[in-house]
Amino acid sequence: MRVLSGIQPSGKLHLGNYFGMMKPALELQDRMEETFLFIADYHALTTVQDAETMRGATAGVALDFLACGLDPAKTVFYRQSDVPQVHELAWLLSIVTPVGLLERCHSFKDKIARGIPASHGLFAYPVLMAADILAVQSDVVPVGQDQKQHVEVTRDLAIKFNNRFGETFKIPEPVIKEEVAVVPGIDGQKMSKSYNNSIELFLPEKELRKACMRIVTDSRSVADSKDPDKCNVFALYRLFAPEADCARMAGRYRQGGIGYGEVKKALADLVWAHFAKARARREELLANPGEVDRILREGAEKARRVIEPTLRKARAAVGLERI
Ligand code: ADP
Ligand code: TRP
Repeated sequence: MRVLSGIQPSGKLHLGNYFGMMKPALELQDRMEETFLFIADYHALTTVQDAETMRGATAGVALDFLACGLDPAKTVFYRQSDVPQVHELAWLLSIVTPVGLLERCHSFKDKIARGIPASHGLFAYPVLMAADILAVQSDVVPVGQDQKQHVEVTRDLAIKFNNRFGETFKIPEPVIKEEVAVVPGIDGQKMSKSYNNSIELFLPEKELRKACMRIVTDSRSVADSKDPDKCNVFALYRLFAPEADCARMAGRYRQGGIGYGEVKKALADLVWAHFAKARARREELLANPGEVDRILREGAEKARRVIEPTLRKARAAVGLERI
């Protein structure tokens, strides 16, 4: 079974990215699936329009993924822009893309509502994403809830293309882990780089503790009984703590006698410990920047070997093969 996912280098990676997309994808890697992960830099250009920022964020995402356990011997890890063939495929898909389908995409509507200019790139974003997915003929796409609609658009486009031009693409399925579909940020909204509410994976310890202390809670006192299912701190705590500890903590919430400060501290301890190994690995890689670049270049070569045959098939299907 083939797995593919991508992430935009549009900022530093946070706990929402980790639980929504990175961890599920890395678990599939470890179950010996055929995994493809890439850095969606073409996509990020729709919002990041400064070359220095772009370079820095791309290097940062590569480093963080490798630190978190991406194994280049098991996963094809590459930069989207090292495989420009996806653009040709995006064009071939665009000819069967109804404008109305793109107009209905929440992500496009949300971004223009936040003041991002409605460029053609932003509008056509889901078509390029469909090309990423269909180019490797992937079976499953692990993503967070907010990307589900984009995978549905991908399925629609693949079906439309196959119906018009003959069987060319596999129809992919999204994989969304219900329990981490939406990780809340420190203000209780979906954690997101764009909402300024995220807890980044590799914060220095002091900043991590500060971020945890800033998580918004209600004003119940230590003695009050509290509902763990309505608490942002508990929602994050349960992502890290073993089940027995979660059950015990939920009991203490209901009983009263525990303050939010204590849970926030326990959460910060857990997050810090969870990423200890990854931090060490990250330091090693930081000392050896050529290694990251080499991994991405090798990944791109492997990705092209899979993507080029799909492109040839699609070109032939529409009648563009050489005569
Ligand atoms: P952001 O919202 O910070 O810009 P992206 O849109 O780049 O994050 O998301 C990258 C990946 O991480 C996607 O698969 C997305 O679904 C997942 N993701 C992002 N934020 C969350 C969250 N708060 N909860 C669960 N998954 C998330
Ligand atoms: N749109 C995705 C996001 O913002 C990134 C992405 C681009 C992607 N192409 C993809 C994710 C293909 C999965 C598959 O997170």
